[in-house]
This record gives sequence, structure tokens and C-alpha cells, in this order.
Amino acid sequence: MNQNISVVILAAGLGTRMKSHRAKVLHEAAGDTLLNHILRAALKVARPEEITVVVGHQSDEVRNSVKVAGVRFAEQPEQKGTGHALLCARAAMAAEKGILLILNGDGPLLKPRTLETLIANHKRNGHAATIVTTEVSDPSGYGRIIRDNSGMVSAIVEQKAATFGQLAIREINPGLYCFDAEKFWAYVNEISPNNPANEYYLTEMIEILRRHGLTVAPLLVSDEKELLGINTRVELAIAGKLLYARKAEELMLGGVTIENPESVAIDVDVQIDPDTVIEANVQLRGKTRIGAGCRIGAGSLLRDCDVADGATILPYVVAEASTIGKNAFVGPFSRLRMNAHADESSHIGNFVELKKTHLGKTSKASHLAYLGDSEIGSGVNIGAGTITCNYDGVQKHPTTIADNVFVGSNSTLIAPLTIEQGAYIAAGSVITKPVAADSLAVGRAYQVDKPGWAKRRRERIKKN
Ligand code: UD1
Ligand code: CA
Repeated sequence: MNQNISVVILAAGLGTRMKSHRAKVLHEAAGDTLLNHILRAALKVARPEEITVVVGHQSDEVRNSVKVAGVRFAEQPEQKGTGHALLCARAAMAAEKGILLILNGDGPLLKPRTLETLIANHKRNGHAATIVTTEVSDPSGYGRIIRDNSGMVSAIVEQKAATFGQLAIREINPGLYCFDAEKFWAYVNEISPNNPANEYYLTEMIEILRRHGLTVAPLLVSDEKELLGINTRVELAIAGKLLYARKAEELMLGGVTIENPESVAIDVDVQIDPDTVIEANVQLRGKTRIGAGCRIGAGSLLRDCDVADGATILPYVVAEASTIGKNAFVGPFSRLRMNAHADESSHIGNFVELKKTHLGKTSKASHLAYLGDSEIGSGVNIGAGTITCNYDGVQKHPTTIADNVFVGSNSTLIAPLTIEQGAYIAAGSVITKPVAADSLAVGRAYQVDKPGWAKRRRERIKKN
């Protein structure tokens, strides 16, 4: 961590080109908002209290979207430009000394390493400011970097104000600045709205510092992808893809096999232990955590799930806010949701849905079942076609199935219901009353046989 650093993240704009009702920084790529991606990088160089986020559009939503405690916020009620945003931040900030790091809120690919390099260079070079620059193939929309004869930055010219010659410059301003805080605050009031957009441009600070005989050094970063600023949904999609590629690479280097890395979408906060295999088209979302030696089958989607070591998930499982125990088998085509828990070595097969249900150790629901609001013990067999009827049209009711119960196929279990240990439910039963331990419950019409009936019927039809 650095001493005497303050960070300002500019996040007040609407982002007109997103064509959205949501503020730009609230849009998500790879499982988190643009703003949280930047914060992640900023938190590698500063403590939360040293960071001030300037909010304006949907400020409540933007504040609430930040998950780190201690981060400061400053309100910019009207968006009069990036320079004006800094004026709004001033009062909320802890210090006006040391290093002032300013980051645009719409660059989610920024790596902490680049911030560290920027700060280190700035400390070493002793200039009034150091700013990141990069060369891009298409500079349109960006502020162009104007250098003087000695290679220092003499100005940043915004697209709207650029001359024909300046528009051809491919070295641009990605929006990452490191200022000497005292000098910045001494002259910040000189920023004027004298430009085609009538805005207070933060970028004018470069010329202002120069006017006072101070110098601004560039830090040319060669990876232009890292500095991509998001203005449209096309760029949002590009950023998402790059973040997914980065995540997949990080996991593979950490010992996870990813069979077709271009096809998977693994959110930034997901954790996976070594020797797990991720098949094609898997999506792992939110805070999902996967243990070691697991297999996640093709096309599966897991959100906020916890999967223990050695579990096998066959293709096309959809699971949300659920846990899967050690060495359990799930899938293909299973669904787990709202706190479903499948314990160690349990089996959940095709077209089985678990909702708010706990399936105990080694228990099996191998085909075609709905298990909702249920507490199911260990060693239980749930036959194909079993339905817990947990909803009476008004309320939900629980079902309890104790250890070693055998539920025959196509059973209808009307909740609230308790089936005690070791009981046996005959196939095709409709069970409405509690079942005692070790007993057999049959809840179906008895079979009637009429010998010769079918033959007689056929003959009757033939005659007519
Ligand atoms: C800005 C830079 C430009 C640079 C580009 C990089 C200025 C004047 N120009 O232009 O040189 O190449 O970023 O992407 O700074 N914001 C506020 N309050 C405001 C206006 C903007 O907080 O009043 C925030 C936005 O939410 C956004 C960031 O500042 O996160 C950048 O704003 P944006 O409007 O995208 O600036 P650009 O026109 O792209
Ligand atoms: Ca921008």
C-alpha cells in the first residue's frame, strides 16, 4: 500500500451511448459492474477510505452496488464534466497531499499492475503529473495526446476541439492520471468551460500545470485492450469477453483444466480448485466455488453454488444458490435452486428438480422428480416420478423423509407430511397421512382383473 494516496473514481455520468436507463458504471461484464472492476484494481494500491467515487446518475443505485465498506462517495448533482467531478469530490476526500490518482469509471480491464507502475514512475520522476497513454488503431472519441519536443505531454485535446491534424494522432488518453495532489488542488479552479461542449474538462489540467511551469510525463502502455473505455454495448461485450479469457487463463495456470476456454463464461469472483475439469459452454456465475477433482459437464450453469471436492456434474445442469457435496453426482438436466443441498455421494439424475430441499448422504433421486421444501435423510431412494405436493394454492408446506426410506415410483406426497425411518411407499401412491417407521404405505386403488374381457370386446366390435 502507498502512503499519502487518494484515489478518485469518476462514475457520475449516464453514458448516453449505452442507450440505457441504467447508469453506465452499473452495467456488468464478467459478473460484476464496471465500477466494481475498477475498484478491485484501485484497492490494490489504496485503502477503501482513501478512495472517493463521484456519483451522479442513479447515485443511490451506484452507491449500493459497491460492496466494499469504507469507500467514500461524493455527489455530482449535474454532470458538468470530468473536471467539475473533481471539484465535487474535493470535500469528501481525506487528504490533499501526496498522490492524487484519478480513474475513469468505465475501464473495467485495468490491471492493478498498471496502477502500481504509474505510481512508481510518478514517485521516481518528480513531475507534477504522470498520465497513462496508449496507442490505438482507432482513436476516435478519445482525447489525443500532444507531446512537446522533449516528449512530455503538453496537452490533451478532446475530439470535439481537435484540429484536423490532431485528429490523426493515435496516442490517446485512456483516463488514468497521477497528480501531485498539492499542485492539482492549487490550480484546479483554473479549469474553465471554454470548449465546444461547455464542460469543465479534467484534461485541461495538463495545460494549466504547464502554464505554471510544471511538467507532465507520459507513461505509454502498449496493451491497448487493457485500457478500453466502455461507451457502447459493443465495447461492453468486448470487455466481457476479454475478462472471461483472462479468468480462464488464470484458472488454467492454477491447475484447472478448461476444455474449450473460448466457450466458457466464468465470473471474476468464482473460485475453482486444481484438477477440476470444466467442459465446453459452462457458465459459472456469481460467487460459485468449486472444489478439487470435480467435473462440470458441458452447458451447465451454476450461480452462487458451492461444489465440494470430487463431485461430478453431468451436462446441462442449472443450479442456483445451492450446494453439492463431496463425490455427489448431479445431472444431466437437473435443476437445483433456492438453497438446495445435495450431500456427500448423493445422486440427482435427469429431470429432477430440488427447491429448498436437503437431500442427505448417499440418497438418490435418479429420474423425473420434484422435491420442494423437503428434508430428506440419508440412504433414501426417491423413485422416478415422485412429486412433493408442497403448494396448496395458498401456502407452501414441508415434507420430511427420514433415513433409509424407499419411495416407490410415481408417488404423490401431499405436504405437510412426515415419513419416518425405513418406511416403504408403494409405487403410484398418493400419500396424505404420516407414515410410521418401517411400515408400508399403499395409497392407490386396488387392481381389478376381468378375464377374457379384452377378447370379448374385440369380437363385439368386429360384428358391428
Ligand atoms: C474522457 C476524457 C478523454 C479520454 C476518455 C477515455 C475528459 C474531458 N475526456 O472522455 O480525454 O480519452 O475519457 O475514456 O475527461 N464523468 C463524471 N462526471 C461528469 C462527466 C463524466 O463523473 O461530469 C465520468 C463518467 O461517468 C465516466 C468518466 O467520467 O466514468 C469519463 O466520462 P466520459 O463522458 O465517458 O468521457 P469521455 O468523453 O469518454
Ligand atoms: Ca468514455
